[in-house]
Amino acid sequence: MSFDFRIADLSLHEAGRHQIRLAEHEMPGLMALREEYAAEQPLAGARIAGSLHMTVQTAVLIETLTALGAEVRWASCNIFSTQDEAAAAVVVGPHGTVEDPQGVPVFAWKNETLEEYWWAASQIFAWPGVDSDASAGANMILDDGGDATMLVHQGAAFEAAGAVPSATEDDPEEYRVVLETLRASLAENPSRYTGVSQAIRGVTEETTTGVTRLSQMARDGELLFPAINVNDSVTKSKFDNKYGIRHSLPDGIMRATDVLLGGKVAVVAGYGDVGKGAAEALRGQGSRVIVTEIDPINALQAAMDGFQVIRMDDAVSQGDVFITTTGGKSIITAEHMRAMKDKAIVGNVGHFDNEIDMAGLAQLPGVEKVEIKPQVHEWRFADTGRSIIVLSEGRLLNLGNATGHPSFVMSSSFANQTIAQIELFRKTAPGYTGEDGYTTDVHVLPKVLDEKVARLHLGALGAELTELTKEQAEYLGVDVAGPYKPEHYRY
Ligand code: NAI
Repeated sequence: MSFDFRIADLSLHEAGRHQIRLAEHEMPGLMALREEYAAEQPLAGARIAGSLHMTVQTAVLIETLTALGAEVRWASCNIFSTQDEAAAAVVVGPHGTVEDPQGVPVFAWKNETLEEYWWAASQIFAWPGVDSDASAGANMILDDGGDATMLVHQGAAFEAAGAVPSATEDDPEEYRVVLETLRASLAENPSRYTGVSQAIRGVTEETTTGVTRLSQMARDGELLFPAINVNDSVTKSKFDNKYGIRHSLPDGIMRATDVLLGGKVAVVAGYGDVGKGAAEALRGQGSRVIVTEIDPINALQAAMDGFQVIRMDDAVSQGDVFITTTGGKSIITAEHMRAMKDKAIVGNVGHFDNEIDMAGLAQLPGVEKVEIKPQVHEWRFADTGRSIIVLSEGRLLNLGNATGHPSFVMSSSFANQTIAQIELFRKTAPGYTGEDGYTTDVHVLPKVLDEKVARLHLGALGAELTELTKEQAEYLGVDVAGPYKPEHYRY
């Protein structure tokens, strides 16, 4: 088999395969879905363009999708998050060799430039023959953060306008690169993304930030195809965002700095699902944790959980470690960083790098950047004589400085992804007439499927579920087999 791909080093595939094998043991949800759907092959005919951190856990997801019949092309959704050995193993495949790779086309390596990142994003739509026949290309997107979906929407919009606009002074550097990527595409084929957007049947979105972007597009009437919000499956956001970060945040800080967290003052911006996991992890390490919030409900939760809640302006002089988890922008400004204690550690686990004003930091007069090691930089301030340590250049530090969330929690997230792909692919099929079809809007999975994902993980932890009796079920007004809670229940 021959196919195009671009990764760091194919010879890493054996190391990747060993890790994948161990991860499979820790991903009971995905393995159970492989078994359940082996004969049926519900994704036969699905051609999935995937944009999600190319880690070992994602490798198990990719191989689950292909085991269910899908064809896949993959890129990472972050320039630092690829595990090169996982990418190599996915390209070679379980039965291939370096000389004869038999796996999946992957376009991802650790440490991409922004130009390379957007090139890789465009490659997941560059299926052989797609430029002459859009139906030969991707018909599904699996996205994390919305970059792949955005590329298709912007590309199609610029093609309709016949031109790609120039970047303005206010546009972030990255948007300039997106525009250049699309300008080159438009010159090559003036209807590439129009074709792609028409062939795509739907997208399943992994994270809070991507869902925010999808919801904005739906609200503005710009969404071109149905979307399933995987993030808001309870078994995703209440598990991955919280328990995942509880593991991978301290992992990232420790691998990067080896600083003892006990006794330090840690400032966590945002007390949503990710912030709750971050604050709990740092407290678990013995840090005194301060939380900042804009939402009174979350702020009250943080206070009730025993955290001091103050504003960033006041926390800046107290913190030894600063972690942003908001999904918002400009949470830590350049002036905040200049005012921090000497050697304060600053990192972000929200999806995009604009939570920390890295551009503003670089523009401070006399500021100097020293690389301690990859993804760990000391920024020295000439005027104060102090310096701070910034992790992963302000991008997701749990993926840049460590390897992201552990397998077990990603099994829960990715079981939702797999089920969402099956749902959407099935129920957007030409000729599908069921009343439960998916309209061009943002949907969540039915609760009964959410409960199914949880069920698939209980056994591996030795948890034994109590079964409702028929009488108990009638008394509560639910079915013995679920769903057990109304839609508005918050867990
Ligand atoms: P969420 O919406 O539950 O929590 C965000 C919290 O930040 C909210 O409570 C909000 O009120 C607060 N907030 C917003 N602006 C703020 C400001 N200026 N100052 C203080 N607080 C502010 O969202 P969730 O699920 O916790 O996700 C947060 C971010 O983390 C998103 O970008 C998401 O995509 C990303 N994420 C990252 C993961 C990782 O592995 N690093 C895993 C899962 C999500």
